[in-house]
Amino acid sequence: MIYLTRRERFNAAHRLYRKEWSDDKNSEVFGKCSNPNWHGHNYVLLVTVKGEPDPETGFLVNIKILSSLVNRCVIDKLDHKNINIEVDFMKDKIATTENLTISIWEILEPEVLKLGCQLHSIRIEETENNFAEYFGNRH
Ligand code: NI
Repeated sequence: MIYLTRRERFNAAHRLYRKEWSDDKNSEVFGKCSNPNWHGHNYVLLVTVKGEPDPETGFLVNIKILSSLVNRCVIDKLDHKNINIEVDFMKDKIATTENLTISIWEILEPEVLKLGCQLHSIRIEETENNFAEYFGNRH
C-alpha cells in the first residue's frame, strides 16, 4: 500500500457563530473567528489517497488528474468565497475546519474511487498552528 498526497490552497472568509446566541456568547465560545464582519484564512488542503501503483506507469494515480478533480469538486467552490453563505456543501453547518474537513471527505471519497484508488485522509490547515484531519467513519 502506498500513500500519495496532493496539496492545494484556497482562501475564504467565514464566521463561526450560532444565530440563536448573542454576539457576546458567540465571541466567548468562538473567539476571533466569531467577528460579525467576517474575516478570512489562507487554507491548505491535503488530500491523501492510497492503493497500489500501476506496474505499467508506476503511478498510484496520475496526480494531475487528482489535482483537477480536487479543484473542480472542492477548490473552485471555496476559493475567494464566503463559506457561510456561498458554499453549497457547507449550508447549515458551522464553518469550522472540522466540518469543512468532513464535508470535503464526503465529496471526494466516491470521486477518488472512480480514479482507481481509495481516499485515505483529508487534512485542512486553517493556520500554521491549527489543522484538522479526517480518515472517514471507519476509523
Ligand atoms: Ni476564522
